[in-house]
Amino acid sequence: MDKFVIEGGHPLQGEIVTSGSKNAALPALAATLLTEEAVTLRGLPRVRDIGTMERLLEEIGAAVDAANGCVRVTARELRRPEAPYELVKTMRASSLVLGPLVARCGQARVSLPGGCAIGARPIDLHIRALEELGARVGQEHGYVVATAPAGGLRGATIAFDRITVTGTEDVMMAATLARGETVIENAAREPEVSDLAELLAKMGARIEGAGSSTIRVQGVERLHGAEHQVITDRIEAGTFLLAGAITRGRLTVRHAPVAHLTALLAKLRQVGVPVTQEDSETLTVHPGDALHSVDMTTEEYPGFATDLQAQYMALMTQGDGIAIITETIFENRFMHALELARMGAKIRLDGRKALVAGGPLSGAAVLASDLRASAGLVLAGLCAKGQTVIDRVYHIDRGYERIEEKLAAAGACIRRVED
Ligand code: EPZ
Repeated sequence: MDKFVIEGGHPLQGEIVTSGSKNAALPALAATLLTEEAVTLRGLPRVRDIGTMERLLEEIGAAVDAANGCVRVTARELRRPEAPYELVKTMRASSLVLGPLVARCGQARVSLPGGCAIGARPIDLHIRALEELGARVGQEHGYVVATAPAGGLRGATIAFDRITVTGTEDVMMAATLARGETVIENAAREPEVSDLAELLAKMGARIEGAGSSTIRVQGVERLHGAEHQVITDRIEAGTFLLAGAITRGRLTVRHAPVAHLTALLAKLRQVGVPVTQEDSETLTVHPGDALHSVDMTTEEYPGFATDLQAQYMALMTQGDGIAIITETIFENRFMHALELARMGAKIRLDGRKALVAGGPLSGAAVLASDLRASAGLVLAGLCAKGQTVIDRVYHIDRGYERIEEKLAAAGACIRRVED
């Protein structure tokens, strides 16, 4: 298992380029199952989760041709409409194939994800929504088995009990091939949902309202091939802005999806981190005066992203007082707090709240527990005194493209050690 070795205390300087969005690329890849024609996707990040999704599409029967961040998927015949446990257990987003498979093949068998490091994360909302579209859904041997009625799925009004990003994406994809109109209420408004709707529209789907909390889909007989460039990754760009801030560096982030970073930019302003915008996709963080401790609560988009909570917590260990961080999306997303404490951070956990007091960090051996927690530890390592060794960085490879190379090119002292 690879490790990162970081010598802290080097302010980041120069430029970093943002990659394509993992969480936009995953549903886009699942959407390729909706048509027998070729779909070409550009700008995909070369991260492990994308490789896992490509493998899943191949298992299902699609031809996947990937090179240099461009993938062409042709799902002419789907011989095995199934997402096996071996793949789902490494990546929950595999459940994104459920909707497309039931819609296209009339049946799907998708392993239940089980627990994961950041909480229980069930897929009951996906299942209930597919039932509203007429699917019969049962469970056997740890798998969800869904079957469309004779004549296929039929449009319905689906009111989600709570906002779910991949749940919205899953049912939006299924609805494109259902008979009649589907209305999705309390839909997720994340930019990744809008990006998926844009791809589906290029494939011939009729969708209105993506990006708002009500999405309307008029089902069509069939979808066709298309080409699409996925949006850049707001979480990766945000991680780099926070990395620049925590090292008191002057760092320019290119290809940043500025419009998708509003909540983070507002928070950085409150904290006292100067950020300038050079053009529609370039942001620079500058060293400011003291970093203020500012409370933060995670929320669904357009609120502050839970996927930046660990990185923000790392920043708050350098604040001038106490910040209260409240996690409202996942019930167990504070694993990094215990590791940060090993580095000297003063953090008290109280249910879904973390009280973070500012103070110096010292390098230590720590363990990455999930993707974004690992990013938080990398940021802490960049500003800690001495050496930090982060074990199990395979978590970070799931969602960040060569993060250590990008950071090293901007002056960080970080290297990967292969075990
Ligand atoms: C997406 O996960 C992202 N993944 C996550 O990114 C992100 O943290 C999350 O949205 C929240 O923004 C992808 O886009 C591939 P949810 P998703 O369904 O869709 C509960 C990362 O680090 N829920 O919006 O799985 C759930 O347990 C990741 O890149 C149910 O109860 O999240 C959670 O508490 C990790 N039943 C809440 O809803 C369901 O059927 C929101 O989850 C579905 C969800």
